[in-house]
Amino acid sequence: MTIRVGVIGTGNIGTSHARDLAMRVSGSTVTVLYDFDQARAAALADELGATAVPTFEDVIESDDVDAVLIASPDDFHAEQALAGLAAGRQLLCEKPLAPVEADALRVIEAEVALGQRHIMMGFMRRFDPGYAELKAQFTDEGIGEPLIVHHLHTNQSAPYGLASARTMTNMVIHEFDITRWLLDDDYASVQVIAGRPGPQTPEGELDPLLVVMRMQSGALVEVEAFVNSQYGYEVSCRVTGSRGGAQMGEGSFITRSVAGVRGQDVPELWLSRFAGAYHRQLQAWIDALRSAGPLPGASAWDGYVATITANCAVAALDSGLPVEVALPLRPALYD
Ligand SMILES: NC(=O)c1ccc[n+]([C@@H]2O[C@H](COP(=O)([O-])OP(=O)(O)OC[C@H]3O[C@@H](n4cnc5c(N)ncnc54)[C@H](O)[C@@H]3O)[C@@H](O)[C@H]2O)c1
Repeated sequence: MTIRVGVIGTGNIGTSHARDLAMRVSGSTVTVLYDFDQARAAALADELGATAVPTFEDVIESDDVDAVLIASPDDFHAEQALAGLAAGRQLLCEKPLAPVEADALRVIEAEVALGQRHIMMGFMRRFDPGYAELKAQFTDEGIGEPLIVHHLHTNQSAPYGLASARTMTNMVIHEFDITRWLLDDDYASVQVIAGRPGPQTPEGELDPLLVVMRMQSGALVEVEAFVNSQYGYEVSCRVTGSRGGAQMGEGSFITRSVAGVRGQDVPELWLSRFAGAYHRQLQAWIDALRSAGPLPGASAWDGYVATITANCAVAALDSGLPVEVALPLRPALYD
């Protein structure tokens, strides 16, 4: 059985996912595409032998589609996910579930009302061998219990414009998700500390930022987020444990020595660093749909918790003080 995927949003990541689903993932094909920029969707449809349609609803309602990938800009995810759920579609939703907590909650309520999980979130770091290896170190033979986590996350230049709130809801949202997954723990509080802005930071915005969190276990987490770093895309993570420390590697990049210089190229975008994780995520989604097995990866609940945490971080940005992260009771669907 081949899963026919419809894609909403054919920008950077939508195009990359669509090509992967059409050409490399086994058991899937891409049949229908929509983008607000119709010429962009039409060009990709030509390339992949798919059909471009005039509205996102046409993707969701198409008879030629078994599952839908949502890769539109952040603000449209919730509305499109709700339409997908109303049509009973399986959905892979890029992060965030929504920038605004109330919108994410509407999606949770709709999925709970269906009584079955339909949404997998595009938190692909959960499929990255680096994070999996790091998590595997938290044993008595490894580094013991995780006590402090240090993340670094830079973009070369702000990919969606520089707004400090978006740094939380779009960028650091990756750390909000992966840290919960790494530590099997939820957040107790979040604080955001702004220091000296770089000369490229627009008036009124804050960049870089330091996000400091306390987990419910008491473990501490720190994220240095620099959305307009000028030098490239970099993601690193180091964990101090009760018996030692572990640092995640640099993905699959090689260290090159040539002409008197030793070094690594720093990628411009996330696509190089996480190409393997994106592919494994898509393959795991398709495998689950083909076997009617449980959805792997992050659930809509994980997406909702990440959005709640990001919204607390936005509030913390205003106050400069730690903000308590209060989570509602988790519905049984997500146990
Ligand atoms: N998981 C990851 O690591 C990762 C990486 C990159 C992007 N993303 C997420 O994917 C989404 C897209 O990011 P991108 O970098 O591809 O952005 P992009 O700007 O390159 O592409 C967005 C596309 O959506 C189209 N669009 C605008 N309004 C739309 C609508 N209402 N419905 C459908 N399409 C619409 C635009 O024309 C554009 O082609 C964002 O939500 C982003 O957070 C996730």
